[in-house]
Amino acid sequence: MRVLHTSLECYPLAKVGGLGDVVGSLPKYLTALDCTTDVIIPFYNNDKINQLSCEDVYSGTLNLGSDNYDFTIKKTISKAFGFQVYLVHQEELLYRSDVYSYDDDTERFVAFQLAVLDWLLVADVQPDIIHCHDHHTGLIPFLVSQVNKYQSLRDIPTILTIHNAQYQGQFGYDKLEYIPQFDLHNIGLLDWDHCINPLAAGIKSAWRVTTVSPAYMKELQHQANGLEGLLSHENPKCVGILNGIDHDTWDPKTDPMVIKNYEAKNIVSGRKANKEWLCQEFNLDINKPLFAFIGRLVYEKGADLLPEIVSEALQHLDANILLLGSGDPVVESRLQELKERFPNSYNAYIGYDEKLSHIIYAGADFLLMPSRVEPCGLNQLYALRYGLIPIVRRIGGLKDTVIDISDHGFGICHDQVNVQDVYNSIKRGVELYNNQKQYREIQKEIVKIDHSWNNSAKQYIELYKSLKQLK
Ligand code: ADP
Ligand code: GLC
Repeated sequence: MRVLHTSLECYPLAKVGGLGDVVGSLPKYLTALDCTTDVIIPFYNNDKINQLSCEDVYSGTLNLGSDNYDFTIKKTISKAFGFQVYLVHQEELLYRSDVYSYDDDTERFVAFQLAVLDWLLVADVQPDIIHCHDHHTGLIPFLVSQVNKYQSLRDIPTILTIHNAQYQGQFGYDKLEYIPQFDLHNIGLLDWDHCINPLAAGIKSAWRVTTVSPAYMKELQHQANGLEGLLSHENPKCVGILNGIDHDTWDPKTDPMVIKNYEAKNIVSGRKANKEWLCQEFNLDINKPLFAFIGRLVYEKGADLLPEIVSEALQHLDANILLLGSGDPVVESRLQELKERFPNSYNAYIGYDEKLSHIIYAGADFLLMPSRVEPCGLNQLYALRYGLIPIVRRIGGLKDTVIDISDHGFGICHDQVNVQDVYNSIKRGVELYNNQKQYREIQKEIVKIDHSWNNSAKQYIELYKSLKQLK
């Protein structure tokens, strides 16, 4: 069996959030289970990608309406990833320093998908399955099944995994010319709400739709940023498969990014060394429990509430708070301003820093995830692996992976996204921290939980096999 994953992110080459982690790790676990897995992403202008040794395997010209773009498909020579990586090099549209947020993202994403399929038309080996991730590659199931030019690919089953239905990539019909010729009777497959909607098109056209936790799959039928009706209708071909994590990259015993490595037997001293570094670096009090947040500062993550949460918690509780993230500029500046108000118990690093995130997992005491929407969430899984206790809102994948201490579990959960609920949870965290015996017992248990891809990769393989049989 051979599967091609198409994605905009793949750790360590390109990562903005959890999508990168998933596409950088699931293929490794699939390959280990004898499912040959290839990944194709854009060739970005970043250090990691520029340093790769690659060979060119295909050169072509793609058309977006009347504009032509030359591109090359490159194959990495290194086997270090544990799977084969291909990259689409396209100078004008894809060779950029960032993954998202350009004015011409529509053109960039469509061009990427057309390049992948143009190459597949002549590639030496064709995949048995094409596995697409999020709206950026959501047009592929449509293109494969409807576009005349790609008719020879029509029998290849397609899977669309929804990592986050909030983002759908809609664009207007003025750009319909980007889609190569197809039977216009089927134009409805592209449409949602009078726009071309790549996520909706993927849901309609893919052979199977998955999402990244069972709970989120259920939630999507009631709340999917306008696509709930479609997802209810397509429910028979949808399944929720919980994300896993890469136990090699995320292992406190070997993690090269942390200050001190540790395992179960020296977890207390190991974590203390990491906490000491954090407290020194960010001017925090080592004796107080350290509550951390790592993530995109966006509404879905509840980031708009963070300034008030910090201010309430630090006025009334004996705690430290450290935030790492970037996003909404208003939230960013409010979080910066708070530094003056709580100079010894609060700090924030506004930006993206992979190494710092690992040290926080290794040194903080609690991780805050007050998400409004959380399809899976990987942070809480990393937290468990490193031994810090997650404080989560019961939603999506957080509901599937964190059980409250009062239900014989190991985390702190709340139901609503409001300052009071999060404050109460932080208060429970402080109380737990003050009961060091119970805190350590929970810590010992959580590091044993196995959220590696082993289990979920098997579920994907079952899915692939079932589709291969249908061919
Ligand atoms: P999402 O994909 O919605 O952002 P996830 O919980 O699935 O959320 O994954 C987030 C990933 O991105 C994790 O690996 C987390 O550690 C990382 N991350 C998020 N923000 C930052 C940041 N500012 N600096 C470093 N890593 C970050
Ligand atoms: C999305 C979701 C997040 C999930 C990640 C990986 O970015 O917001 O919850 O963990 O994708 O699937």
